[in-house]
Amino acid sequence: MHTPILVTGGTGTLGRHVVPLLRAAGHPVRVLSRRGGPPGDGVTHVTADLLTGVGLEPALRGVTTVLHLAGGAKGDDRVAANLVHAARRTGVTHLAHVSVTGADRVPLAWLRSKRDAERAVADSGLPWTVLRAAQFHDLVLTMLTAMAKLPVAPVPGGLRLQPVDAAEVAARLVELTLGAPAGLAPDLAGPETLGLDELLTGYLAATGRRRLRLPVRLPGKAGRAYRDGANLARPGATRGVRTWDAFLAERLRRAVGGAPTSPPSRG
Ligand SMILES: NC(=O)c1ccc[n+]([C@@H]2O[C@H](COP(=O)([O-])OP(=O)(O)OC[C@H]3O[C@@H](n4cnc5c(N)ncnc54)[C@H](OP(=O)(O)O)[C@@H]3O)[C@@H](O)[C@H]2O)c1
Repeated sequence: MHTPILVTGGTGTLGRHVVPLLRAAGHPVRVLSRRGGPPGDGVTHVTADLLTGVGLEPALRGVTTVLHLAGGAKGDDRVAANLVHAARRTGVTHLAHVSVTGADRVPLAWLRSKRDAERAVADSGLPWTVLRAAQFHDLVLTMLTAMAKLPVAPVPGGLRLQPVDAAEVAARLVELTLGAPAGLAPDLAGPETLGLDELLTGYLAATGRRRLRLPVRLPGKAGRAYRDGANLARPGATRGVRTWDAFLAERLRRAVGGAPTSPPSRG
């Protein structure tokens, strides 16, 4: 009988793909989040707040492998530090974590917090694995949906993305989590590199809309980093298979009565 694998953020966009894959591999799963969720076959839920640390040590009891997915708009560095602190006291032997491509290169506050979260994991003294993933299709859809709601869509020049399917990220994370600790794994990005303007054009065409566009220049060092492609996967990255167009076509087929919707996602 396996000990449960603790999946933080297992109720989120990525976590909802990860949990069934771990179950299919025969592992009991303990999901950690603030709000919890309904138990399922081999899946239990614990509530804890990684930002405050409340509830963490009981959540880690009896766990040797942790897959840390929980994240939000800010504070992911503190979240990781709290998790590491508790994991060091409770016998964790593999701490796997998902981060974002460019976390070490784009000087924006939320990416700095992703970088510091990575560092907390790498400096934990625990055996660790970190996978940096590109933006999930779901997040790109959320961005484009918001842009298309404006009468004039602001389009940052030179911004490119490599949208990747959350299910493919989940499969890779499960493989890494069940394998030996690997340190910093090759990045995982989608099969294409697409300009935000191209993505918007495709989205508007697919949803039968027209919008005026306002080209904008992202300011400062972060703007330059984006124009230089610092947010893109590093050389040697693994590239996913499912394209943005395939994802969008499926979402539009599923959408009922108008604009497609996507679950909230915080990349
Ligand atoms: N979205 C992307 O494009 C993208 C790309 C690359 C990497 N990532 C990374 O992948 C991870 C998962 O992203 P996602 O899109 O699946 O996020 P999501 O859909 O927003 O889900 C976040 C999950 O974390 C939990 N959570 C948030 N704050 C928490 C806290 N303080 N304590 C305990 N649980 C907390 C949430 O549950 P409760 O709200 O109930 O607590 C939820 O289960 C994040 O670390 C993100 O940075 C995302």
